[in-house]
Amino acid sequence: MELTVEEQSMLAGEHSRAACKAMEILVALGGIYGAEQMIPVTSVQIAGVSFDNLGEAGLEFLQEMADGGGRVRVLTTLNPAGMDVENWQALGIPADFARNQQRVLEAFACMGVQVTCTCTPYLSGNTPGFGEHIAWAESSAVCYANSVLGARTNREGGPSALAAALTGRTPAYGYHLDENRAPSVAVEVRAGVQGTHAFGALGRAIGEQLEARKLRPVPYVRGVERASLEELKSFCASLATYGGAALFHMAGITPEADRFAPEREPFFPEVEQFAPPECLTISQAEIDAAAEALDDAGEAEVDFVSLGCPHLSIDEIAHLAELLRGQAVVKEFWITTARPVKQLADRMGYTQVIEASGAKFAVDTCCVVAPIKGRFTALATDSAKACYYAYAKNKFKTRFLPFDEVVQQALKR
Ligand code: F3S
Repeated sequence: MELTVEEQSMLAGEHSRAACKAMEILVALGGIYGAEQMIPVTSVQIAGVSFDNLGEAGLEFLQEMADGGGRVRVLTTLNPAGMDVENWQALGIPADFARNQQRVLEAFACMGVQVTCTCTPYLSGNTPGFGEHIAWAESSAVCYANSVLGARTNREGGPSALAAALTGRTPAYGYHLDENRAPSVAVEVRAGVQGTHAFGALGRAIGEQLEARKLRPVPYVRGVERASLEELKSFCASLATYGGAALFHMAGITPEADRFAPEREPFFPEVEQFAPPECLTISQAEIDAAAEALDDAGEAEVDFVSLGCPHLSIDEIAHLAELLRGQAVVKEFWITTARPVKQLADRMGYTQVIEASGAKFAVDTCCVVAPIKGRFTALATDSAKACYYAYAKNKFKTRFLPFDEVVQQALKR
């Protein structure tokens, strides 16, 4: 790789031990993917923050980087941790786990990372602009940043994201390059899709078709008339989980879609034509089947309810407060969101209404990364991604329902 003078000096250890290690990681990564150079990044999102995932070895690596003079050079935020930093006791998190999780967060803070702990950093001030090169981990956020914001990032792992933060660089390959952002497959949606649950089911239906056909997962989706921020974050989480997609284009909705049109569309000279190897069609029946496959728990089995995968927006919390006003929940019900969004909910009076019902805010964390294996039998949620990991990580059964029906589950004996 061709490195600038500054990059060479980082690699030579002239900045800090941590910057040297970080540059070594990036050079190795660039070598694997055939990058010719580094590019500067403006924003980083680090995943793998829960002590449940990191363990003692991961924590030691972070402490070494902090002790080795590691300091971030660009805006850097964190994915959810394994607990609500302020309210972990109420969620039943063991004290020794809490101590270790705090040590993880202290190591990040020592390096200048903003310890936001959310998978929706774009709702809390880490919102890159169109065309910005960034280095994000967290598959749902990567898909959102690439597709909805039009920023450019690969799916980073925890170490490579930290390395990008400490150097302000990432190797120039993959989704940073124009040629890799072109769609590889056209997807025609022949169904009305509305709500986070339906968009999650759509993401699963498309994702599984991409996986089955081993297609490079950059779909160009047509036929979706409108999509809200909340629907898109649900779709991104699901498409990334079930189809491994880090980027999609949605005609009339995402900012780069206008650059492309499949062949045989009416010809627009300003638009790049691409020839999809295949055009997939997604019907209402396939979306319904994708949803039903995630619904394997009997109603009586549900003993855990959670909303906020990805983390809830303030509009979702406002709606939830209306649904819970004057009600009493009878099951463990976690509302997961980012700390700044929760603070706004406090000011708006939503928190008081929600907590009066018995539902619990689980800020900074989520039902997947928290250490809750063995505590519950079945989870009710509106998130297709949460269903996948509830089973894969914790062996919970799942009820996959629209947002309002999830709330009803929490109220039912
Ligand atoms: Fe976020 Fe946890 Fe879901 S990190 S996307 S709430 S699995």
